[in-house]
Amino acid sequence: MSLATSNLDPKVFGRVAVLMGGTSAEREVSLDSGSGILNALTNKGVNAFAVDGLEALLKHLNDKTVDRVFNIMHGGEGENGVLQGVLEAFGIPYTGPGVMGSALTMDKIRTKQVWEASGLPTPKFIRLARGEDVHAAAKQLGLPVVVKPSAEGSSVGVSMVESDAELEEAVKLASTFHGELLIEQMIQGPEYSVPVVALDGEATALPSIKIIPKGRWYDYHAKYIADDTQYICPGCDDATEEATIKDLAVKAFKAAGLESWSRVDFMQDKTTRQFYLIEVNTAPGMTSHSLVPKAADVVGVNYEELCYAILASTVKEGDASK
Ligand SMILES: Nc1ncnc2c1ncn2[C@@H]1O[C@H](COP(=O)(O)OP(=O)(O)O)[C@@H](O)[C@H]1O
Ligand SMILES: [Mg+2]
Repeated sequence: MSLATSNLDPKVFGRVAVLMGGTSAEREVSLDSGSGILNALTNKGVNAFAVDGLEALLKHLNDKTVDRVFNIMHGGEGENGVLQGVLEAFGIPYTGPGVMGSALTMDKIRTKQVWEASGLPTPKFIRLARGEDVHAAAKQLGLPVVVKPSAEGSSVGVSMVESDAELEEAVKLASTFHGELLIEQMIQGPEYSVPVVALDGEATALPSIKIIPKGRWYDYHAKYIADDTQYICPGCDDATEEATIKDLAVKAFKAAGLESWSRVDFMQDKTTRQFYLIEVNTAPGMTSHSLVPKAADVVGVNYEELCYAILASTVKEGDASK
């Protein structure tokens, strides 16, 4: 893959804050991603520096010591539209989707509603109001189902439910998290993730990554603790399927009003081979062993070039002449 943006003069970016850390449960992963990005941008000649958390960023914004932000703060804090709103108010360009796309995709229920309305495939689901009859909802969808909080991450609060007897426990667990709940048809088959990056203003899918956890599903342990999860990239052996999943990722990105870059997650029904959209991560991991760098590497884009391309996605026409 050729990156026209690699010809861009690093001076165009001005002073770039790599926003990382914060107070979320994903702080450590974010710091790891952030230091990688900082290193990469510095090596590419960008005037970049680290900023830990929103409060520290606010100080830079007030002091006018920052021109642009590479946001890699994970969790609600960095991905729910609030940070994006602050940056809009200060007129500072930033990586990742804007206020609307960030806020929308933080909410799984409403993201799925948008995808459904756009004719995109996502597992059938029911929004579960507190106290609502979960047994009736499960019956309507048909077991097995997945119960999850609408606004969490890292697989916390998510339960795979095979039998009616497990439903109450699943709802109890999901209810301990903030916000609404959903119950979703379980898709039985492999899991995939597809990075989408806006290259020269055009949302472009990188190769898919197939995720094969050692256990039954991609839970918190498989994501952050175990090192026996297998990642295969490109994820699909079949070229037509690979083209289909990439096309769906770009359509899902556009339908949700996303910009700059994100990572779109899928499940595939092993019998029908249909892909289903699960969710989007708008500030996905960028550690050396994260998924997005893996996919970029497969198309010959190294980590430094990838970071540079994501940063370049914040440059609007006319910025270069400043
Ligand atoms: N409808 C589904 N069918 C099968 N597995 C699912 C489904 N939804 C989620 N999962 C599994 O649960 C994991 C976490 O769910 P996800 O919706 O991605 O929430 P989170 O924001 O916590 O990552 C997924 O990575 C996948 O392994
Ligand atoms: Mg997920």
